[in-house]
Amino acid sequence: MRVPFINGRKREFLIDPLAVRDTTAMALLHQEDFSRPWTAVEFAGLLDQEPVFGFAAREIGRPAALPAGFVLARQAAGEAEILTITVARSFRGGGLGWALMDAVLRQLYHQRAEALFLEVDETNLAALALYRRMRFREVARRPAYYAHPGAAPTTALVMRRDLR
Ligand SMILES: CC(C)(COP(=O)(O)OP(=O)(O)OC[C@H]1O[C@@H](n2cnc3c(N)ncnc32)[C@H](O)[C@@H]1OP(=O)(O)O)[C@@H](O)C(=O)NCCC(=O)NCCS
Repeated sequence: MRVPFINGRKREFLIDPLAVRDTTAMALLHQEDFSRPWTAVEFAGLLDQEPVFGFAAREIGRPAALPAGFVLARQAAGEAEILTITVARSFRGGGLGWALMDAVLRQLYHQRAEALFLEVDETNLAALALYRRMRFREVARRPAYYAHPGAAPTTALVMRRDLR
């Protein structure tokens, strides 16, 4: 899947499966945004599990560059969940988040999964807008779920996208 991306200049990305060689880059990307980032070893452990899969956004023509973003998901018994998704700050707003989520949805359709779930901080407006645009709907709330040092905890929304 190619994603044209305008950010000062035209760039093209390929959305393709994550591999164990990506785990160091995944950890670097993850620490940009998550207060408890996952390590490369944790990512390797997840990717080693059969129900876990994901995709990276790789810039075409720059094979040595770190992926611009990735998504990790897990499927079990007809249902799936997004474990994490992140796009590097300098690449946001160009459609990569949408393309990564779309790759997950396509794989799940192919496998005839029933639903995809995720959890999101209700104050994360960019992620919420992306998920709502992809027809996820809120199915539960977990008050005071995310801790923030020096600030009040925030609510997690559990969202579901039907696949059938
Ligand atoms: C959430 C995230 C993955 C979105 O990635 P992205 O590549 O910037 O998203 P896209 O460019 O594909 O945007 C797709 C849609 O999402 C919505 N969206 C994305 N960023 C937005 C923003 N800052 N404000 C409002 N809506 C936004 C829009 O509806 C957009 O569609 P549009 O451009 O046609 O209006 C990215 O912001 C990110 O990595 N955030 C930090 C990590 C994170 O919060 N992960 C989610 C945890 S649950």
